[in-house]
Amino acid sequence: MSKNSLVYFLLCILFQLLLEVNCQMMPFKPGAISGHTATLIDNKLYILGGIDAKRNFILKDFFYLDVSVTFNTQNLLWQDLSNIDMVPSHHLATSVKGGANNDTLFLYGGDSSNKTTALVYTFDPQSITWVTPNIAGVNTIRKFELTGVNHDGKMYLFSGITYGVVTLTFVDDMLILDTINLSWGKGSLVNAPTPRGDYGVALLPNKNIIYIGGIVTTVVYDPKTLNIVQGDASTLSEVYLYDTINDNWSTKATSGRIPSNRAAFSTVLGLDGQRIIIFGGEFINPGYLDTTLYVLDLTNFTWYVPKISGKIPNPRIRHQANVIGKYMVISFGFGYDNTIESDILLLDISNNEEYVWTTTFDPTVPNNISSSLLPPSSSPSPSSSSSPTSNAPAAVIAGATVGSLFGVILLSFGGFLLYKRNKNKQKQKDIIQIHGNEGGYNNYNHGQELTTNHEPII
Ligand SMILES: *[C@@H]1O[C@H](CO)[C@@H](O)[C@H](O)[C@H]1NC(C)=O
Ligand SMILES: *[C@@H]1O[C@H](CO)[C@@H](O)[C@H](O)[C@H]1NC(C)=O
Ligand SMILES: *[C@@H]1O[C@H](CO)[C@@H](O)[C@H](O)[C@H]1NC(C)=O
Ligand SMILES: *[C@@H]1O[C@H](CO)[C@@H](O)[C@H](O)[C@H]1NC(C)=O
Ligand SMILES: *[C@@H]1O[C@H](CO)[C@@H](O)[C@H](O)[C@H]1NC(C)=O
Ligand SMILES: *[C@@H]1O[C@H](CO)[C@@H](O)[C@H](O)[C@H]1NC(C)=O
Repeated sequence: MSKNSLVYFLLCILFQLLLEVNCQMMPFKPGAISGHTATLIDNKLYILGGIDAKRNFILKDFFYLDVSVTFNTQNLLWQDLSNIDMVPSHHLATSVKGGANNDTLFLYGGDSSNKTTALVYTFDPQSITWVTPNIAGVNTIRKFELTGVNHDGKMYLFSGITYGVVTLTFVDDMLILDTINLSWGKGSLVNAPTPRGDYGVALLPNKNIIYIGGIVTTVVYDPKTLNIVQGDASTLSEVYLYDTINDNWSTKATSGRIPSNRAAFSTVLGLDGQRIIIFGGEFINPGYLDTTLYVLDLTNFTWYVPKISGKIPNPRIRHQANVIGKYMVISFGFGYDNTIESDILLLDISNNEEYVWTTTFDPTVPNNISSSLLPPSSSPSPSSSSSPTSNAPAAVIAGATVGSLFGVILLSFGGFLLYKRNKNKQKQKDIIQIHGNEGGYNNYNHGQELTTNHEPII
């Protein structure tokens, strides 16, 4: 080998190395997602599925955000796991953290055009594998636009919507999936609210599940104002409690500044366990003339508008909210411009006298927050060596060394190749996704329903 060709050969290897490294370091950029699920397991917020409203197709994306570290919402380092996702494209499903060790993602239902889509999938973050579990008992209804709640290993799946013979149907049931014993069960419907979809829900410290609002008819909303222009959402002048211990329902009348009828908002339990916070949603006027946030005091079921500071974000629908540390963490949704506003919104809810919209996530939890109400604090485990990104550090070191040896020219050339390569990769991905979904609406022939119930009017 001549000296020249040896140099060339070495350079080639170095480019390879640099490209691989940079590709892995390249943060994943999600689309305009709504109707996804967001599940917090072991300091990772997993986002799955949804619909891309801008490109109008159903997604097969699967990625997470590491919430064990400080981050800024303007610079989110999403980690893409789509290549190991076995769940076909879907949206409007629901998920919980469950299973024997309470560390498995359980996904139920959702709207999917793929006929092979199972009703339930599980994802084990330890082994990074998806499984279609065998579940004892019979349940064949595929529901969507519902939210499951895990209490004591049981996933409570009240009502929701399904495809009837002619139109969309609101399902009248309290389906219970035992995520430990893997069996289907049913809860009581005596005194249950009318069947509904897109309601707000939270597990209370007294082991009751509270159900708030939701749609009781198909609705059409204005995509600009999120105002419901046809159909109606449920009143929030009463809320419904399902007692998971005694399997019975009760209704509570609410008072105070009752929010207008609404649905598809997000709901979390406050850090003191004594209040419910709701954000966004599609609504009957007057809706956002006064506020995007409401709080329900659980001691006397009084609604009030909390004091808030920080930059108030545009309201969203079909987003998700998880309580992580001292924040209500809102992810994605429809109603904001994702080229301007962050996909993640952070509301610091640690001080009930004043909630703060912020852009910086601080993973340390103030010690006056009732620990029994927080998700079991799983500190970032150093044993995450099974993670698919864990081989990155070695490669990064190699890349850094190489980079510093060969300097700027080499790096910028590498940067050019990287740009081309990613462009190609992106193209390929788009084609796959469009191909995977183009049959969707036609297969089910539910284009009509989608424009009324799933889609904003244009
Ligand atoms: C699992 O954790 C959730 C909170 O994240 C809790 O609601 C549920 O009761 C737990 N399940 C078990 C079996 O401990
Ligand atoms: C699972 O089944 C066992 C015995 O069959 C029972 O003792 C246990 O309570 C069940 N667990 C749940 C969460 O239902
Ligand atoms: C639910 O059942 C428990 C235990 O039987 C009972 O004490 C409670 O009053 C019931 N609640 C309602 C609303 O029926
Ligand atoms: C409800 O209870 C809270 C205290 O938890 C109190 O501040 C508020 O004034 C009460 N509202 C009404 C209408 O009684
Ligand atoms: C925690 O402490 C802060 C500052 O002292 C206080 O403002 C806040 O209300 C407390 N939060 C809770 C949940 O008690
Ligand atoms: C449906 O999903 C299965 C499993 O992910 C996949 O192999 C198949 O290609 C999908 N079919 C369509 C039409 O997208």
